[in-house]
Amino acid sequence: MTLVFSGVKPTGHLTLGNYLGAMRRWADVDQHQADALFCIVDLHALTVDHDPARVRRLSRQAATLLLASGLDPELCTVFVQSHVDEHARLSYVLECVATDGEMRRMIQYKEKAARERERGGSVRLSLLTYPVLMAADILAYGTDEVPVGDDQTQHVELARDLAVRFNQRYGHTFVVPRATPPQVAARVMNLQDPASKMGKSDDSGPGIVYLLDEPDVVRKKVMRAVTDSGREVVYDRAAQPGVANLLEILAACTGGNPSELSGVYESYGSLKSATAEAVVETLRPVQERHRELCADPGYVEGVLRDGAERARAMARPTVDAAYRAIGLLPAAAAGAGAAATSDIGVTV
Ligand code: TRP
Repeated sequence: MTLVFSGVKPTGHLTLGNYLGAMRRWADVDQHQADALFCIVDLHALTVDHDPARVRRLSRQAATLLLASGLDPELCTVFVQSHVDEHARLSYVLECVATDGEMRRMIQYKEKAARERERGGSVRLSLLTYPVLMAADILAYGTDEVPVGDDQTQHVELARDLAVRFNQRYGHTFVVPRATPPQVAARVMNLQDPASKMGKSDDSGPGIVYLLDEPDVVRKKVMRAVTDSGREVVYDRAAQPGVANLLEILAACTGGNPSELSGVYESYGSLKSATAEAVVETLRPVQERHRELCADPGYVEGVLRDGAERARAMARPTVDAAYRAIGLLPAAAAGAGAAATSDIGVTV
């Protein structure tokens, strides 16, 4: 069976963009059709200036929202990256396969490092090596497919390169993964700036609908979305990006088609009200389930504990194999005696 792995970084509250662009598909499709692992990648949240209590809170919240959005621990594995040592263990070995030039070429590193320096801050070394840790996340499990947005395809490419290079140098160890982009229609843009993605990390409120926004907050944000000059509702991403974004959100929430829907609404106002209600209705069951899960924190903890155990058992053999292949001496198992002493005396 195909193995799917994806990660959510707990650096901000999850948004409608995360839900329509990724999480919903994980729940509706991936967990049914594949062996699927969904990981709260908390180690990655430490690569930029962070508040420890907030990372902890967002990690728990992300796990709860993944379950609330329909991931079923009977069908897939939901876990927290730092609970499984194999990620960091493998990351180091992959650092010995990657080059510093490769790291410095990563677009996201260049952008984030430049932003950090502009602010007069320093850049954490882990920001540079982040893609190697991400490669370790993916390669540790023999992942075939990584469902991520286009901003992450360069990182998945790196994971592929490292897998191929490692296999060539040290013997076949890793499956070579591929990125599977989400459908175009589910690319949700910022309501105040339809040229940029509704990402969770940019944390500037009014253009971003968060999964836990109250219905009235959702309505307000959608009603205040920027639209375009002109009056007619037409679906044209280039000429009318604001209206196109609303049509796509509405289509994603109702199962319709953006160009057909454009014929249904006479004004921007009526399109916005319809979109607002559709978003409220889409989020309602997720929010209800989230509330139930929050009332039962022991359940979520149990899911994460079992998930980590399962993930560890899956990753361990591959990471052990990589350690052996690259030349690290295996630790003797307890009670194994002096079985592996035949190398002694050989001059290397
Ligand atoms: N880098 C991804 C992001 O910023 C998160 C991530 C970390 C990830 N490890 C991963 C995604 C492994 C997919 C697979 O969104």
